[in-house]
Amino acid sequence: MKIMIASAVSALAMTLALPALADVRPIEFEKAARPSKGLIVLPVGTGGALAGLAEDADKAANGALSKAISLAKFEGDAGKTLTLYGAGPFEAVLLIGTGEGAVTATDLQIYGAHAASGTAGWPEGAKVVVPDARDVALDAVPAAIGARLGGYSFGKWGADESADAETPAPKVLTFLSPKAADAKAAFLKDGEALLAGVTFARDLISTPSNIKTPEWFAAQVQEAFAGVPGVTVTVLDEQQIAELGMGALYGTGQGSARPPRLVAVDYRGGKESDAPIAFVGKGITFDTGGISIKPNDGMWRMRSDMSGAAASAGAVLTLAKRNAKMNAVAVLALAENMPDGNAIRPGDVLTSMSGKTIEVLNTDAEGRLVLADGLWWVQENYKPKLAVTIATLTGAVVGALGREHAGLFTRDDALAGTFLEAGDAVGERLWRLPVTDATFEAIKSDIADVKNISDPGAAPGASVGAAFIMEWVQPETPFVHLDIAGMAWEAAGRPTEPKGGVGFGVRLFDEIARDYESN
Ligand code: BES
Ligand code: MN
Ligand code: ZN
Repeated sequence: MKIMIASAVSALAMTLALPALADVRPIEFEKAARPSKGLIVLPVGTGGALAGLAEDADKAANGALSKAISLAKFEGDAGKTLTLYGAGPFEAVLLIGTGEGAVTATDLQIYGAHAASGTAGWPEGAKVVVPDARDVALDAVPAAIGARLGGYSFGKWGADESADAETPAPKVLTFLSPKAADAKAAFLKDGEALLAGVTFARDLISTPSNIKTPEWFAAQVQEAFAGVPGVTVTVLDEQQIAELGMGALYGTGQGSARPPRLVAVDYRGGKESDAPIAFVGKGITFDTGGISIKPNDGMWRMRSDMSGAAASAGAVLTLAKRNAKMNAVAVLALAENMPDGNAIRPGDVLTSMSGKTIEVLNTDAEGRLVLADGLWWVQENYKPKLAVTIATLTGAVVGALGREHAGLFTRDDALAGTFLEAGDAVGERLWRLPVTDATFEAIKSDIADVKNISDPGAAPGASVGAAFIMEWVQPETPFVHLDIAGMAWEAAGRPTEPKGGVGFGVRLFDEIARDYESN
């Protein structure tokens, strides 16, 4: 992304040096042939087994690879690597364990990420033998996508530019495939589209909140979609938000000097008459908690509280870039949650766009407020055939599911199945949590239609958030809510998810969209 600083952002923020753009590692595809020299990457199965082209390479090295594997007691465990220099005719060999069981598309992504990181310092480009998975011709594609996902870096604000100049340009990573031309075509279309969406989301999430105002966010979206065929971006400002009666979104942003925005990204790739699927993202550009202020410990991480909005925008960018034959709309409910003389107070009552009134008992339960209006707005304007809310909504979901699964909430069992399966397929895993009648009971208010939190212990916290949002689902709208609070930010870094904003949801939505495409 290339950070553009909106004029309304304080002049001080403009003195920040922008992150240096890391060079993207070039990816190539080449017809698979037995490796006989150079720098190579090979898969190793459990027990140190070499198969296919890896076995051929071992023969070319007169057994030097299998000998090294056995001497090093390399067992081929998933993600473990062993680097050899000068083995037989090879200058360098990176061995990557593929572990137990069938190799999935997600495993291939992780394999590709290890191939990229393990060869990053090599003096020449490397050739990568891809493990056999389900679709031998195209297995190189997820591996290549993984290489780029893992190679993502947000850059460093204020980094010394001269240090950067010394970094040599990254060397080509060449993936071997029996159908190299097909693999390359698929990577350039679907792969690059997916990477564009994930990268856009990650850049937005990792940007500090002194830069990332709702207005700035909206401008980034307009810029990213400028000239993308089939896309119309609409931005509603605070006055339009007020005029439309979106008291929940407006109220949430009321304590901030940076006013809220509602952004709609409308992508038309299908029939004009076809209803779109809608992704409604929580876009809190910073969540202090408001008057119900958060403790300082870890509050900095609340700059990622717009991850749902980032994923929604990123997903539609992916769909548009790969020319998906369907219609989709992303709605970004953007506001900053700040304590201030104008801020909403605990006990205040807000009127949402639907007319439903909300007793705000905790100003830190703000995500559900902005989503209520975003969700109602998209139903009124688009009659979507599926609406999904995606949000870093509750700490409770992190307590329940940790950092392996996002929470999935829906009252539609078939949709639950579709989402669980899609999540497994792309490695963005979901776990279904309940929303029962008792959960709805727990948010009835004495003085308004609903309250934004339950009494302590009355119902599970993540489910309360989901039930609250469901109060704005129209009867005919198929609906799913995703709570990604545990998945949006990566503190340690994983092979395909470097430290920082993850972009969780882009890959999932890209997969879900395939069910709605016309061919
Ligand atoms: N943005 C937070 C949720 C969150 C917590 C995201 C941890 C990522 C990591 C949300 O707005 C929030 O503050 N939720 C409250 C809700 C409570 C007041 C009912 C929470 O979880 O404590
Ligand atoms: Mn909050
Ligand atoms: Zn929040």
